[in-house]
Amino acid sequence: MKKIKTYIDGFDDVLGGGIPEGHVVLMCGTPGTMKTSITYSIMYENAKRNGLKGLYISLEESYEGLKGAMLDLEMKDIDQLPVFMIDVGRIRKAHPEQEINKGWMEILTQYIQKRVEADEFDIVVIDSLAALYSLSPLKNPRAELFHFIRFLKELEPTVFLISEISHGSVGLVSNDEDFLADGIIHLKMHEAGDSDVQIRINCIKMRRTKHQRGWYRLMHTGKKFTATPIISD
Ligand SMILES: Nc1ncnc2c1ncn2[C@@H]1O[C@H](COP(=O)(O)OP(=O)(O)OP(=O)(O)O)[C@@H](O)[C@H]1O
Ligand SMILES: [Mg+2]
Repeated sequence: MKKIKTYIDGFDDVLGGGIPEGHVVLMCGTPGTMKTSITYSIMYENAKRNGLKGLYISLEESYEGLKGAMLDLEMKDIDQLPVFMIDVGRIRKAHPEQEINKGWMEILTQYIQKRVEADEFDIVVIDSLAALYSLSPLKNPRAELFHFIRFLKELEPTVFLISEISHGSVGLVSNDEDFLADGIIHLKMHEAGDSDVQIRINCIKMRRTKHQRGWYRLMHTGKKFTATPIISD
């Protein structure tokens, strides 16, 4: 089985080598836990090292904002790589008003299908599910989501769904996304001592891999992300 590496130092070993190709993986976390940055970095590193083609659909941040943040993280050569970014404004421009009224789940389904067929993307990212739900409220969330995730699973590319956890919520997700997805990576803020706040990462589930469980400290230093074991609090 082929695997997509995250290139987060130390974390591919935790995942048992990486994420099996074709999986639909949820990247869950509270606001500001670097969900966007690490998911983009996975796409970027795979484009740079392996020539994998990536499609990043940003329903939250603008194209310019996202690109600026990636440049800040030292991903300077994104324009030379086979990664394609689109934001909601640009998708809206490409679709007539009556199509937008159908609902964003349907628009995205058609858009992804068309782009994947035409350009054979290896990695597709949707950032985020919360933004997707707020763009057009779902009439029957469980059923619509079930069909959407099933559609994504049947696609060839590996898909990352970014999922926002609101502060203080009990569950990881809002509509059963957790048992529909093939994998779940959880990011959280952790208060270590009186003044230090760390971002931590944990693979909760990854079908078809023998992954480790537990929290690792996530850091971005220089040009790379690292996940290091937690020694003590
Ligand atoms: N090298 C770095 N180390 C630690 N934090 C950083 C670094 N570079 C940027 N950040 C911080 O990471 C945070 C956000 O990252 P990112 O946008 O990827 O998170 P997110 O989980 O997608 O956030 P949101 O909930 O807004 O979508 C920002 O507060 C940013 O300042
Ligand atoms: Mg984000």
